[in-house]
Amino acid sequence: MIRPLITGNWKMFKTPRESLDFVGRLKEALSDIRELDVVIAPPFTSLYPVGVALKGSGIHLAAQNLYDKTEGAYTGEISARMLIDVGCAYVIVGHSERRTLFGEKDKMINGKLKMAIQSGLKPIFCIGETLAEREAGKTFTIIEQQIKEGLNQLSADDIGEILVAYEPVWAIGTGKTAAPEQAQEAHAFIRGVIAGDYQEELADNLPILYGGSVSTDNIAKLMAQRDINGALVGGASLDVETFVRIVNYKKIS
Ligand code: PGA
Repeated sequence: MIRPLITGNWKMFKTPRESLDFVGRLKEALSDIRELDVVIAPPFTSLYPVGVALKGSGIHLAAQNLYDKTEGAYTGEISARMLIDVGCAYVIVGHSERRTLFGEKDKMINGKLKMAIQSGLKPIFCIGETLAEREAGKTFTIIEQQIKEGLNQLSADDIGEILVAYEPVWAIGTGKTAAPEQAQEAHAFIRGVIAGDYQEELADNLPILYGGSVSTDNIAKLMAQRDINGALVGGASLDVETFVRIVNYKKIS
């Protein structure tokens, strides 16, 4: 059984002060959560104070990005070691906004995944097709290509450290969620690609999160799908009450 995991991706929202206010309320609301993992990914400037505030809470910290070099003259970039030092256990890699707005290609994403794993961070590796690709019937070709290039030269042990997030680009921030069955189909396909490239057992244990307009209305149905092990929540993770309701999806009737 894969332990469910819900991640809040705050993107470029919340100052350190706003982040601390959120986290104080989140810790209180989730003080007895045991059956799943909760991860939040604030902006870089909030990581240190939030990391301190989360100590001992059981809620985990993620960064939204990292650079694929250890250190050096890379103005504006952040290394894996810096993220670990402020308490990050996870890092989001290859988010579609990084791919489309900042030109990240599969090769760079592959380097970032390697760097994260070798440094001891668990990468949340994001993949997903655009609307044009889906309408052209290319969804599975695109996903498979992103997996093969993103995971190029990663060993079976490395795969044991990663999480995949399937985020159809057309569903991100648009209010359009993939239907649970549509998401399930893509998740099963992803698991199949990993089983084919590595081993069945690794694929069976790979956490695959769904992302794209996750809300209190759709989380329970999404989580009921066989191959959906968690969610990567953007907009709906910015309000503490909404996020807590999503984390407590089992109680939504
Ligand atoms: P959204 O974002 O929930 O606002 O659609 C999800 C994401 O980009 O990870």
